[in-house]
Amino acid sequence: MEAISHAVIIPDSFLSYPPSSFCIPSFYAKDVDSVIIPEGLIRDRIKGLAREIFNVYASSAAEPLVLVCVLKSAFKFFSALQLEIEHLNVESCGTSDFPQSLQINGEPKTNGSKNSHPDGQTRRSLPLFCEFIRVKSYVNTQSVTGSDVQVQGVLCPEEAFSQKNVLIVEDIIDSGRTMQALIQNLKQHNPKSLRVASMLWKRVAHGGKSVPYPPDFFGFEIPDRFVIGFGMDYNEKFRDLNHLCIINEAGIQRYAVNPSK
Ligand code: HPA
Ligand code: MG
Repeated sequence: MEAISHAVIIPDSFLSYPPSSFCIPSFYAKDVDSVIIPEGLIRDRIKGLAREIFNVYASSAAEPLVLVCVLKSAFKFFSALQLEIEHLNVESCGTSDFPQSLQINGEPKTNGSKNSHPDGQTRRSLPLFCEFIRVKSYVNTQSVTGSDVQVQGVLCPEEAFSQKNVLIVEDIIDSGRTMQALIQNLKQHNPKSLRVASMLWKRVAHGGKSVPYPPDFFGFEIPDRFVIGFGMDYNEKFRDLNHLCIINEAGIQRYAVNPSK
């Protein structure tokens, strides 16, 4: 499918911003090399993504969309995206049923935008269902592929996904292996449609192997750097860092864990 997204492309030559120009929590200040995407820009782009998604799925029949949050890292992106779609549903509510007292010269009081629906005829909306899953892509130390990926968290997947429009919401896609396995897994439950929205798409070298397709909707294409913040962690730290940042060597050392534990 052709990409639907108007993602912001961050080139490899982009130097990122010095942390001193931003408000970084004091307990993380020593661990941040630079800010690659400030929180305000992330939130602004999420508004745009919500519109892209709304434009694809919203209908006058109010057919629902199942948003699938891939825990843990996508939680912040997921909640921001869900809220923006919720706002679009509120904006799309009709104005023709305004009480007479709020009408000017008998006309419905609208903001004059061509997106308002004074006659109520083109109202489209998008009811949302939310599912939360965890994907276990490693068994012991082995990365698993294909239908081996373990999806946890949905009690009755058949009921949740069968014949529904389903949108997987991820924080980042880099190698794409986990996503491919997740897609294969969810397809077994016969969704009506299955697409992917990711906050980030990392440009990784694929060593001559086939490059995974871009997610259908994505916020930013970023260089191949390890990023933290806005829900994304390094060994469970930094999820509560507001901006998307690049970790420095001191942070990598401070929060390193012993893999044999
Ligand atoms: N940061 C955090 N988690 C990740 C990343 C990253 O850059 N890539 C894949 N998972
Ligand atoms: Mg993730």
